[in-house]
Amino acid sequence: MLRTHSCGELRPSHIGQEVGLCGWVDRVRDHKGVIFIDLRDRWGRTQVVVGPESPAATLVAAKAVRPEWVVRVHGLVGARPDGTVNPKLDTGAVELACHSLEVLNEAVTPVFQPSGTELPGEEVRLGHRWLDLRRPAMQRNLFLRHRMVKIMRDHFDELGFIDVETPMLGKSTPEGARDYLVPARLEHGAFFALPQSPQLYKQLLMIAGFDRYVQVAKCFRDEDLRADRQPEFTQLDVEMSFVDAADVMGVIEGLVRRTAREVLGLEVTLPLPRLSWDEAMERYGHDAPDLRYGLELVDLAAAVRESDFRVFRAALEGGGRVRGIRVPGAAARFSRKELDDLTAVAVEGGAKGLVWLKLEEGGEWAGPVAKNLGAAGPAIRTALGAAPGDLVLIVADSFAVTCKALHMLRKRLGAQLGLYEPGAMHFSWVVDFPMFARDEETGGWAAMHHPFTAPRAADLPLLDRDPAACRAQAYDLVINGSEAGGGTIRIHDKATQSKVFGLLGISAETARERFGFLLDALESGAPPHGGIALGIDRWIMLFGGLDNIRDVIAFPKTQKASDLMTGAPAPVETKQLAELAIRVVAPPKPLPPG
Ligand code: AMO
Ligand code: AMP
Repeated sequence: MLRTHSCGELRPSHIGQEVGLCGWVDRVRDHKGVIFIDLRDRWGRTQVVVGPESPAATLVAAKAVRPEWVVRVHGLVGARPDGTVNPKLDTGAVELACHSLEVLNEAVTPVFQPSGTELPGEEVRLGHRWLDLRRPAMQRNLFLRHRMVKIMRDHFDELGFIDVETPMLGKSTPEGARDYLVPARLEHGAFFALPQSPQLYKQLLMIAGFDRYVQVAKCFRDEDLRADRQPEFTQLDVEMSFVDAADVMGVIEGLVRRTAREVLGLEVTLPLPRLSWDEAMERYGHDAPDLRYGLELVDLAAAVRESDFRVFRAALEGGGRVRGIRVPGAAARFSRKELDDLTAVAVEGGAKGLVWLKLEEGGEWAGPVAKNLGAAGPAIRTALGAAPGDLVLIVADSFAVTCKALHMLRKRLGAQLGLYEPGAMHFSWVVDFPMFARDEETGGWAAMHHPFTAPRAADLPLLDRDPAACRAQAYDLVINGSEAGGGTIRIHDKATQSKVFGLLGISAETARERFGFLLDALESGAPPHGGIALGIDRWIMLFGGLDNIRDVIAFPKTQKASDLMTGAPAPVETKQLAELAIRVVAPPKPLPPG
């Protein structure tokens, strides 16, 4: 046995025992010939003391060790002298009087100290992930991940769900992103697609009669990355037969309650609040609104209708909207420069500008366009319920632009003004999404979720008459303004599925070629079914109070979808390309250093 205990285990009850520990040298301090080594492993840290009572050879060995060396020590557990107890450390009441120290492996000077308080840039961390993962913060994140996935598995197992693995090598499943392709060696010119989600497989499992399916599934999407997206990420993928939307949401609400209770000690009241998509867009300008704070959007069309102010008139006459938000008591908190910053946020959201107004003590508006308001002034005040000292922000533009700009302002203000408690968690559902959205490139219809989503039963006739008005049986789980999961009830008959393909511009031939297996399965006894997928990485991030998805993934990719540690993606041998009958037209650019 190399060790008798871990570095996080020793307590006053062990005093007087001979023990052996293994681990990494976290810190070494030499205090007038007495050497203190903090020994670290996954379980914690223990103070090892090598002093005049230790054998001479041990003292020599201890003087040589450096941070991140791997050592094995033996010695006697003793109480720390009065005044040196460290209450922050689980092992802080004891120390190990070392009589032997064996170096199991030396380490070169690390590019950064895992135990240090100064973190290097993320590129350095990603390039030396094995060091980064030694940091207690990263270890905590991965333990949290393990625990939360275990809760998920237990929850679904107890409810009779069966875990089925679906293939990685398959055919494209449209979830709206680009596919990662894998060339087939035995069929030149043909490619597998890595799954964007197990969507079609899980539907086929329902048609096969499994009734309740769950999987911790790797998904691959070649899309533009942001702080909460990875090209390779993990879903908790769920599908159920003979259910409606409320059934699926109920199962997930049970998981939300259990996870919040076990991980955060938080009691969540069920059922979770539900907003329709229309309401979410109207009140918050976004389909995943952050409900930890108010700052609701208010329509000002009626209030400004009589106003001569050119900006408002032009928007309304063009079929657009004038909407604003009231920021209570914030007038004095924003300098001219900060208001310019808010204007820049609105412009980034597509707005042509931002009207800001401060309500003064006398009930007069102040601001660059206050003079232009005329009768609209008092009307705006009434519509927003503004009181002296309030700041008001107004955007006039198309519905979509007012949504985006005011949503971005809400987000910015929520964070900047600290409108929520640091540990606050807000869970809600957004439901009744439109079935279709205009595809900006083609001008045709695109599926808001995916093409297998069922319309609300009452909206079926709208598929022919007015697709834009057709609402889906869709539900997204929103946590603190992040889309933490999304699902739908599926189309389970061939006729409706074919009709939706048609609306999406997928011809009958293309549908047969791409989804023939699904269409055949749908006419071979498909039960009504539906499901959901939770973004596991985002769940861990949100429950862990983190803001970077890479911090909850052991080996993540950068924003440019590359792995700085292994250097992937990388060119391959010419021989490999020849076997695949692939000729590369443009040689790949060498990866940037680091
Ligand atoms: P959807 O595309 O909404 O639905 O994905 C489900 C959830 O997965 C997470 N997610 C991501 N997380 C990290 N990086 C990404 N690139 C990424 N993309 C998505 C989000 C999202 O809510 N097949 C359907 C589910 C269903 O209908 O059952 C699907 O994949 O948290
Ligand atoms: P302008 O005359 O274009 O400089 O605009 C006058 C004021 O109205 C400026 O404070 C602009 O930021 C603001 N503004 C311009 N266009 C819009 C708009 N579409 N919505 C809200 N405010 C705007």
